[in-house]
Amino acid sequence: MAGVTDVAFRRVCLGRGALLMYTEMVSAKGLVYKNENTRFLLETGEEERATGVQIFGSDEAFLASAVRDWLNDTSFAFIDINMGCPVKKVVSNGEGSALLRDPKKVCSVARSIVESSSKPVSAKIRTGYDENTINVTDNVKALNDAGVGMIAVHGRTREMFYSGKADRELIAKAVEASGVPVIANGDVSCYEDYVSMKRDTGAAGVMIGRGAMGNPFIFEEIASGKRGEKYSPPTAEDRLREALRHLELMKGYKDERTACREFRKQLCWYTKGMSGGAAIRNEATKISSFSAFEGYILSLIEKCSAV
Ligand SMILES: Cc1cc2nc3c(=O)[nH]c(=O)nc-3n(C[C@H](O)[C@H](O)[C@H](O)COP(=O)(O)O)c2cc1C
Repeated sequence: MAGVTDVAFRRVCLGRGALLMYTEMVSAKGLVYKNENTRFLLETGEEERATGVQIFGSDEAFLASAVRDWLNDTSFAFIDINMGCPVKKVVSNGEGSALLRDPKKVCSVARSIVESSSKPVSAKIRTGYDENTINVTDNVKALNDAGVGMIAVHGRTREMFYSGKADRELIAKAVEASGVPVIANGDVSCYEDYVSMKRDTGAAGVMIGRGAMGNPFIFEEIASGKRGEKYSPPTAEDRLREALRHLELMKGYKDERTACREFRKQLCWYTKGMSGGAAIRNEATKISSFSAFEGYILSLIEKCSAV
């Protein structure tokens, strides 16, 4: 997720039992034109395993060159193609979910990556572009033809962005149409959602987006549910300690100013629903150094212990 799944957050989630992670989406053009900020997105953690790098673009030659020159020689486990981003800036360039309108284009874009990649290739799509173009099975077949090894399907159209509900029936149709594993995505935020998503779609796996923001514990929740164990949700103190660990990890990858700016929103997610959460979020906007953040979070932890 752009602006969310940086290397620190991926390490936090992997530490809590996530089986696969994806980088933020990385522009093929940005890589080819050697954009500094884009290349920064290719940072990997030391013991980071099972992470795919997600690339976006629409020009086959650019994609192939970005894969050959920038991605093959990295430690990422696989390369994922973004065909689901609904953002106007991306779609108006014919990239992200704009591709979904044309299954032939979906196939040729995916093939250009499969043919230039030394790693397994997966794709992430939506159910269609809009309600008049629900073509998820055509796109799944196009991706199968291109040689993609795994497909994640977000059960919304581009036009829906994040509104309404993910359509599980359409994901189930994608599962049926595909010869490779399909991962179901959309609105899973607890173990019960995970179970019903798997049951309703028959998907090989489930992808979690927003449900993990500020709650990397969700991966433990699901793992313990699968083992038939009772899950004890994290306390406020557990969440604050996780935030502290997250901040600690950010130190290794980002300069202080950038890390603190980005950590503010992470702390907002960690403290969502917590008593005094609004005041915490307000305070966080004023903090701009690692030591001040640490001091502040430790003071919150102390308050929790005093209760
Ligand atoms: C802030 C944000 C950033 C996202 N960035 C990406 C991205 O870079 N690549 C991608 O495939 N999906 C991205 N998504 C979409 C999510 O991966 C996911 O498909 C969507 O949120 C639905 O799943 P959820 O209900 O579990 O969140 C993003 C979503 C959010 C909220």
